[in-house]
Amino acid sequence: MELTYSLTACLAIFVLFIFSILLRNLASCAKNQPPSPPSLPLIGHLHLLKEPLNQTLQSLSAKYGEILLLRLGVRKALIVTSPSAVEECFTKNDIIFANRPRSLSSKHFSYNYTTISVAPYGDHWRNLRRLAALEIFSPARIAVFTGTRKTELMLLLRELMHKCNEGGGSTKVDLKSKFVELAFNILSMTMAGKRYYGENVADAEEARKARFLIREMLENSGRSNLGDYLPLLRWVDFKGLEKRFTTLMQRLDKFMQDMVDERKQLLAAGSNGSATMIDHLLSLQENEHEYYSDELIKGIIMVLLIAGTDTLSISLEWAMALLLNQPEAIKKIKAEIDAHVPEDRLLEEQDLPNLTYLQNVIKETLRLYPPVPLLIPHEASENCTVAGYHVSKGTMLLVNLWAIHRDPKLWEDPTKFIPERHQERRDDGFTMLPFGAGRRGCPGAGIGTRVLGLVLGTLVQVFEWERTSEEMVDMTEGRGFSIPKVEPLQAICRPRQAILQQHSLVPP
Ligand code: HEM
Repeated sequence: MELTYSLTACLAIFVLFIFSILLRNLASCAKNQPPSPPSLPLIGHLHLLKEPLNQTLQSLSAKYGEILLLRLGVRKALIVTSPSAVEECFTKNDIIFANRPRSLSSKHFSYNYTTISVAPYGDHWRNLRRLAALEIFSPARIAVFTGTRKTELMLLLRELMHKCNEGGGSTKVDLKSKFVELAFNILSMTMAGKRYYGENVADAEEARKARFLIREMLENSGRSNLGDYLPLLRWVDFKGLEKRFTTLMQRLDKFMQDMVDERKQLLAAGSNGSATMIDHLLSLQENEHEYYSDELIKGIIMVLLIAGTDTLSISLEWAMALLLNQPEAIKKIKAEIDAHVPEDRLLEEQDLPNLTYLQNVIKETLRLYPPVPLLIPHEASENCTVAGYHVSKGTMLLVNLWAIHRDPKLWEDPTKFIPERHQERRDDGFTMLPFGAGRRGCPGAGIGTRVLGLVLGTLVQVFEWERTSEEMVDMTEGRGFSIPKVEPLQAICRPRQAILQQHSLVPP
């Protein structure tokens, strides 16, 4: 008897489910929907999504349209590859698209959707952005940490110099790992006054454990899972995945809490306050304890560490790879630096505005290899229209900026590395948007470009660089949320004669 009831109930739920899908489809047919490829029952277009996603979506857009609607299981996704539609999304519809879709990984790695990168649009997120603009990314706050960025870079230069000395004048460098280490050290020194990579770490064992955790953190944050699109699948590996994420987040939380507690102890012992970003946030906590809770501070540090490390290290790696394949560009950077920076000192951040060719190299790198090629997904909080098409509430927005940056209608020789193309170009914001646009655009753009300019410029000022063999550097793009280089970049460096003569700059 009970079995009959259960079977009837299951059948009824199934019929209702199919009926609701039919009704939904009928309702959407009545409206002007964006074009869409043929889809399969239940999974919709999920089977079409092969990695690298940016390239697959580019092919689908070329076939079906620059504004494309995909059904990814229970979710709808609007794929936009047209600058005018992007402009509409981030101007007229900016508030509507200022939401983020929820996912299993964002739930676990965001203190329950409260961190700046995934919090829904609303008072809490607006407060976080205001706080970030004022207390973290304002020119005054960025200036406070100029010395920290410089010190970390000098440590890398010294390490390379030392290895060159040992290697009889030159050394082979694993640039991928060096850039991850440098980016993370810059950020962790800024946040907590601690470094986790290199010979100068305070506690080698603690740093080793932290490095494992950091790698896991970078690999898992931003991951999407099939269960986000097919809730039925959650029952298959849901428990295992949830458990893995929960354990990882517990360890991450402890890592962040230790950072905060250590700063509290140092401050209590009378150390110089406001020396790190955490100190500064703790000083705000003194006056507004409820708002500036430890959890809020941990969430801020975690997001900045993740958002900054990946983007900076990946961009530096692509930039150097492009330069190694085009040594004339290295010569031009060198000539520009030699013309604008006095011989007896290394490049400083304040030199960057005078180094336009270097800036164009950075722009061209971010055009060809934007580290967040589809932006962080946005979500429509209301029905709206884009390019005359109806977009329903809850639709996810993916802007394929990788495809826009390589669109032959917008760029001559789009796949070629030509820094000069940016010389006369007016920034219109929607044909080139490596940092996104609108309310949800990257708040770290200013500091990001500064770090890229400082690191890249100084490496070229101090060393001669060449490929490890006659062969061109392999430029195959990997899979994932950001565009990593499949082959980790290696290169050979040797100190420039002019720098060796100024020996005291970078002691071996
Ligand atoms: C080359 C360097 C960087 C690039 C290309 C970059 C790019 C981006 C992009 C495309 C987004 C998503 C925008 C959107 O969804 O519309 C983003 C968001 C974000 N970025 Fe960056 N980023 C860089 C460096 C940084 C750095 C150094 C930090 C902080 C230390 C940072 C912090 C953030 C945060 C907090 C968000 C989330 C904003 C929000 O949801 O309100 N980024 N970034």
